[in-house]
Amino acid sequence: MTQFKSLPGFREFYPEDKAVQNHIFDIWRRTSRRFGFREWDAPVLEELELFTEKSGEEIVSQLFNFVDKGERAVTLRPEMTPSLARMVAARAGSMRRPIKWFAIGDNFRYEKQQKGRLRSFVQYNADLLGEPGPSADAEIIALCVESLRAFGLREGEFCIRLSDRNLWFLFLESRGVPADKVPAILSVVDKLERDKPEDLLKNAAGALAGTDCDPVAILDAVRGFVACDSFDKVRAFLGAGNAAVEARLKDWSELLGILSAMNLGDFIRVDMTIVRGLAYYTGFVFEAFQLVGQGRALAGGGRYDNLVKKLGGPDMPAVGFGMGDVVLRNLLDDLKLIPAYHDAPDFYAIVIGEENRAEALKDVAALRTAGICVEYAFKDGKFGKLIQTAEQSGARHALVYGGDELAAGVVKVRDMKERREVAVPRAHLIEALRLIAEHGLPCDQPKPGCDRQGGCGCSH
Ligand code: HAM
Repeated sequence: MTQFKSLPGFREFYPEDKAVQNHIFDIWRRTSRRFGFREWDAPVLEELELFTEKSGEEIVSQLFNFVDKGERAVTLRPEMTPSLARMVAARAGSMRRPIKWFAIGDNFRYEKQQKGRLRSFVQYNADLLGEPGPSADAEIIALCVESLRAFGLREGEFCIRLSDRNLWFLFLESRGVPADKVPAILSVVDKLERDKPEDLLKNAAGALAGTDCDPVAILDAVRGFVACDSFDKVRAFLGAGNAAVEARLKDWSELLGILSAMNLGDFIRVDMTIVRGLAYYTGFVFEAFQLVGQGRALAGGGRYDNLVKKLGGPDMPAVGFGMGDVVLRNLLDDLKLIPAYHDAPDFYAIVIGEENRAEALKDVAALRTAGICVEYAFKDGKFGKLIQTAEQSGARHALVYGGDELAAGVVKVRDMKERREVAVPRAHLIEALRLIAEHGLPCDQPKPGCDRQGGCGCSH
């Protein structure tokens, strides 16, 4: 018989795994809402051209694309930013600015499967549109930091590597690189840490073909620039005298000022090696990096001021980031920051004697309608065996439906840990079980002042 497996790079989520993923989604949602971001979504299947035109070469080479039955060239989305820009472009005129949106969605990239990189992953996106100044960049970076801190990650465990494509353009142009060649040089910068020196030189020469620039000199200049690992060093390296550079450095001061006012300065590392692979970035760019373990990127983002206009909308400055669930989850696992999985019911009902089942089911149904989590044993059996089933369910309390109890109009509620029972009148079952679910059984040996409602601290 054929044994089917899931495809390489695609994940299955058994309930324990799904619970962890839900925990991650929950933290992302709650943090976004604290910053006033609203949730949106888009189709997972999009027109191919949306990405071939708007993303970068690297992503385009990783598309899961095909021709559908209507002869349309389509692709599973590799990222969400072009869809967001299209949606904002379509309604920009009627939207109150700034637009602060977040999304949590499946993305697909045909990448070589490796630790931290899969072919299907979930990405959390947060984007702020309609605000051109550094306050927007700061807000997005602050949200990125907070959404990692909300998992219990601390300073020293991750940082934000901050850079600026705008400054890169100004710097390279000041060294004689024509504007249309800058993106190709930035692709070389992107691989500065990974490629061999001879490959870097070959690629730089290719990028500068047809210009007067000396690739060796440009590469030297690039190395000098990326060696600047603080704002002061960047400022000193670029020197005074260029009005555009000075104006940009003012934006830097403003951005860093806001981040330190928010007490986030210690998370920021100026790192000009970050240029981002995607084609649409225009200004500040950043990546969140883990500082423990394998030092992978947790998130990446930046400013993309032209994308909405390119998709038929008005001029609409924009900045945002995407954070994947794969690297994050590995890191949370390594640092033991994933809370224990708990999905046991509050109560587990057992029925002693088939003739009592209908009455028990009446209560089970009423309790569930009232929002109380109850499971019950489908089969009849001996008391000991049934109690064991209740124990295995993980419920803190069992509800015992026997003939004697029903005749007396009560249900026995048994604390599985303390092995103690109290009889609760069925007429008040819902109210009583709500209290018990929250506080435990009322105590039977109360200390003075105890209200017998449970949670009183009396020892039993
Ligand atoms: P990106 O850098 O391509 O940016 O992806 C952002 C994050 O998604 C990465 O840092 C990583 O955590 C996760 N990621 C990317 N590819 C994979 C993969 N194959 N497996 C697992 N995780 C992955 C973007 O996608 C931009 N659209 C982000 C953005 C939003 N920029 C502005 N707004």
